[in-house]
Amino acid sequence: MSEKATLEINGQKYDFPIVNGSENEKAINISSLRAVTGGITTLDPGFKNTGSCQSAITFLDGEKGILRYRGYSIEELAEKADFLEVAFLLIFGDLPTEEQLLKFHKDIKDNSIVDDDIRKILDAFPKSAHPMGVLSSLTSALTAFNPTSVNIDSEEDMYNSVVKILGKLPVLVAWTMRKKQGLPLDYGDNSLGYVENVLKMMFKQPNQDYVQNPILVNALNKLLILHADHEQNCSTSTVRIVGSSHAGLFASISSGISALWGPLHGGANQAVLEMLEAIKEDGGDTKKYMAKAKDKSDPFRLMGFGHRVYKNFDPRAKIIKVAADEVLNDLGVEDPILDIAKSLEKEALADPYFVQRKLYPNVDFYSGIIYRAMGIPVDMFTVMFALGRLPGWIGQWQEMRLRKEPIGRPRQIYNGQTSRSFKA
Ligand code: CMC
Repeated sequence: MSEKATLEINGQKYDFPIVNGSENEKAINISSLRAVTGGITTLDPGFKNTGSCQSAITFLDGEKGILRYRGYSIEELAEKADFLEVAFLLIFGDLPTEEQLLKFHKDIKDNSIVDDDIRKILDAFPKSAHPMGVLSSLTSALTAFNPTSVNIDSEEDMYNSVVKILGKLPVLVAWTMRKKQGLPLDYGDNSLGYVENVLKMMFKQPNQDYVQNPILVNALNKLLILHADHEQNCSTSTVRIVGSSHAGLFASISSGISALWGPLHGGANQAVLEMLEAIKEDGGDTKKYMAKAKDKSDPFRLMGFGHRVYKNFDPRAKIIKVAADEVLNDLGVEDPILDIAKSLEKEALADPYFVQRKLYPNVDFYSGIIYRAMGIPVDMFTVMFALGRLPGWIGQWQEMRLRKEPIGRPRQIYNGQTSRSFKA
């Protein structure tokens, strides 16, 4: 017998079906609530306890610290997979065969040329522009050069859009950074792997060959995989909701980039590094900053700590902490802010304020330390996150459209002025 939940309002009972997920998650389907009760709705600011969709892409158990893409654990993927394999997995549902992967990569490379007129748009930005604003604008501008919106009922059309955006975004990422640094723009090297090409496009100096460093390739591959999807987070929900109006894929991704920019979401990686730097400059007194984070009259938050869904540990943070140690060791970099980060983590994990609120280091607590060791400028950190999150956004957008989800349009409870007359 199917399960149900009964809600009693002023003595009147209403039954609602319970939806079961494949990992035994349960949700009360209240979609008929308003109709059966004659106008009562639910209120859940920040969607802290609201499922916006059913999805078969990413499973996350915040209590147990589990994260899986299409059933594969993040630990195994970060250890063994290639970023493009993970992208294929997220978007198409299964890991690619060798042949499928080769074709996927070739199609991406064949679609990586960005219309040269995009340079003119890039040129119009002052050097002071934040790379996330530039990337979001350039992604949006791509729609002008790829004007037909995806025909979602055509597998071929959908596939072409997927390879186009996966091919062009790395070019935009590299251009965004190089423009700021006054370096000539480049289209990359089709003989290279996806991650190697990203590094070369970003770092190649005009007067010398670029030599790949396998440590950097591995580190970036891992970081991109760890960021590739995270179910219905702020930017992914944005991509799904923008796409639910049947806005195109590129426009939806562009809005996802804007959502990711904020310091409570992807922008935290930049904010963490700036915070660690500030603590170092201030003499390295971590206790002072712990006190600030706990002081409710102080807006300061310990950046890189806490998560809406992880209430035990963030599995990505565990992997990244080890990777940070490895990368710094391998590169022979001694970074005092790694020690500050470790002290803060130790203190926070033993502090009742953080323990009671179940605040643990999240994915971004250590990622910036790796990015910095790789030579990536601080204001590019969130751009790197966007590059990693791209396959997740694509997969989620596609799923939403293929499942023919209705336009996203939440309700509200109006609490403003009631009707009043206009006086001349
Ligand atoms: N430092 C100090 N106190 C905190 C922090 C923090 N980083 N995070 C949460 N709290 C406190 C908060 O003040 C509140 O306390 P109280 O119950 O006394 O009012 C309690 O913990 C619950 O916090 P919340 O803001 O209601 O939780 P949320 O689920 O709405 O927010 C969060 C989650 C990630 C936005 C928040 O923890 C935060 O601002 N963290 C710092 C920013 C950060 O690292 N963001 C990256 C998230 S992971 C990358 C990604 O996928 O986006």
